[in-house]
Amino acid sequence: MASVRFDPAPAGLQGTLRVPPDKSISHRAAIFAAMTQEPVRVTNYLDAADTNSTLAAVQAIGALVQRTGPGELLIRGTGLHDPQQPDGPIDVGNAGTLMRLLPGWLAARPGTSWTFDGDSSIRRRPVDRIAVPLREMGATIEATDERFPPFTVSGAELRGIEYVLPVASAQVKSCVLIAGMSTAEPTTVVEPKPSRDHTERMLAAAGAPIERDGGRVTVRRVDELGLESIAVPGDLSSAAFWVAAAVLVPGSRIVLEEVNVNWTRTGFLRIVERMGGSVRGELEEHGAFTPGEPVSALEVAHGPLRGTTVEPEEVPLAIDELPLVALLGCFAEGETVVRGAQELKVKESDRIATVVNGLRGLGAEIEATDDGFVVRGTGGLRGGTISSHGDHRLAMLGAIAGLASREGVEVDGMEAAAVSYPRFTDDLATLLAR
Ligand code: S3P
Repeated sequence: MASVRFDPAPAGLQGTLRVPPDKSISHRAAIFAAMTQEPVRVTNYLDAADTNSTLAAVQAIGALVQRTGPGELLIRGTGLHDPQQPDGPIDVGNAGTLMRLLPGWLAARPGTSWTFDGDSSIRRRPVDRIAVPLREMGATIEATDERFPPFTVSGAELRGIEYVLPVASAQVKSCVLIAGMSTAEPTTVVEPKPSRDHTERMLAAAGAPIERDGGRVTVRRVDELGLESIAVPGDLSSAAFWVAAAVLVPGSRIVLEEVNVNWTRTGFLRIVERMGGSVRGELEEHGAFTPGEPVSALEVAHGPLRGTTVEPEEVPLAIDELPLVALLGCFAEGETVVRGAQELKVKESDRIATVVNGLRGLGAEIEATDDGFVVRGTGGLRGGTISSHGDHRLAMLGAIAGLASREGVEVDGMEAAAVSYPRFTDDLATLLAR
């Protein structure tokens, strides 16, 4: 296990950076390309453990993936109707999005059976949230202890349903919509709160009959998707680490280029602004990216922060960045509260427990609640040691905490960052270089 030390950065972070390609959009690019009959060219695909699991999974079910250059792929899919059953289980690694989206496609193939498994972290992540709607549509799902991987999906001729999401989850929404492309009747998903909508945008671009009416998304049967090329924009969730670092470390001013600023992903930027942080975005209109996914350069500078309350409605729009909100709260004046974020408990780690215990170990005054946490800002953070618990976002949280701390932070298990951001420490070196 790699232990890496992150020392305070007395001169701040400077410079311009292109953050890695978006993880959520990369997963969808590979899965939707695999459903397409004509070859699809994907550029700026994320080369990280999670999204490589998705490439391996689509290859296991018959898609051909050719690497044509750095981040460039040519994917020859099987078409919607002809995924091939592999000999063994489909290995999803650490990737929750892969584990929850792919079954939506495969459950709609009558007479087939697919087993999914992954690493020790994924074996603790619930799949009953997709099993419930897929069963209602007519598929059979057998899961370990009723709700965990490994699990087996037996496909059937599915029927269309109207499904009211019990939790605001883009993964569950996507799973049901993907299954709904093969149902005779229309399928509707009703969202209690908006969540990331990359699936809807990409399916619309692929010509699928998909419509949104407020919180209701309806998809109708389709036999073929038409995607020629997909260019993946930069990942706001990866950019968020540098946004936090630049806001926290005195003397910092950085520019992050070509970041996806789809409003269903930018909740964190709105929270930072509310706390008084300086983030300026300028929409970039070169249209080179996936249709419907806006990109922007973000200019971020150091400044003082005040505490804020993150309400439940905001949570899905900033879900993966809430650990960083806790860190910002340590440096803010007053209290920072996150409510309605129970979902954090079922991420790559129990992110209420790991964030609260991890930051407390670095000197933070932070308490866990049932649905989030409360941080009392003290204007700084001592430093110390934090464990990633194998969770990529925890590893990178510890690194940013180190840069902003008084004494530095040792991160145990830094290698976890490779799940979404393999070049994290190289990019940090760029921003620290004078
Ligand atoms: C994701 C949705 C979110 C997010 C995850 C990626 C996606 O999960 O936390 O990192 O790509 O759809 P939920 O759908 O469980 O909220």
